[in-house]
Amino acid sequence: MARSITSLDDVTANNLGTFKKINQVSLPTSYSEAWYKEALNSDQIVKLAFFSELPVGGVKAKPLNLSSDLATFDSAVGAKLVPKMVPNVVYIETLAVLTAYQNLGVGKQLLDHVIDQTKQKYIHDVCVHVHVTNTHALEWYEKHGFEQKSLVKDYYKLQGLESPDAYLLYLKV
Ligand SMILES: CC(C)(COP(=O)(O)OP(=O)(O)OC[C@H]1O[C@@H](n2cnc3c(N)ncnc32)[C@H](O)[C@@H]1OP(=O)(O)O)[C@@H](O)C(=O)NCCC(=O)NCCS
Repeated sequence: MARSITSLDDVTANNLGTFKKINQVSLPTSYSEAWYKEALNSDQIVKLAFFSELPVGGVKAKPLNLSSDLATFDSAVGAKLVPKMVPNVVYIETLAVLTAYQNLGVGKQLLDHVIDQTKQKYIHDVCVHVHVTNTHALEWYEKHGFEQKSLVKDYYKLQGLESPDAYLLYLKV
């Protein structure tokens, strides 16, 4: 059987820097060292995507309880599953593909992994915040079945983005 030109692999201490670099050049938001370290925890849904063996994309998502505070970027990034609470949503924190490698199916492969993991955990909702001006990502998520649930005012206010609002999108799986 022919080997696929795109593949996913785990994020480890050895390639954590690559995951960080991909996020830094692809996203307008930044994440702390502690957040990157958290990516190595087994409860997180984290993968690097490779195109022809080159690292070109990555995803980080986490199971949460719907009562988690997702009102601002900082609270969503800091949100953790409360021990003993049953997770009922998987929250996508970052999903990014280097510009030169977009439109090759890499993003879909990362999203499919999140959806598979969500189903394996018997969770039925995936959600994500998308910056209001990020029309491309909004259309991309909607094309993959996500629906806009609400407009979150000032979600990115402390990140210094010009239009600080975000849409919260949901997918039933
Ligand atoms: C949104 C994003 C993740 C999409 O990633 P991507 O790798 O380009 O997504 P895909 O390649 O899976 O899908 C894009 C398109 O390629 C098409 N496609 C899928 N597989 C393909 C293939 N093998 N060959 C050619 N085209 C393909 C899809 O049909 C889709 O077409 P469309 O133009 O009709 O939408 C990417 O644009 C990105 O990283 N943006 C910057 C970061 C960001 O905004 N992230 C979202 C907020 S978390």
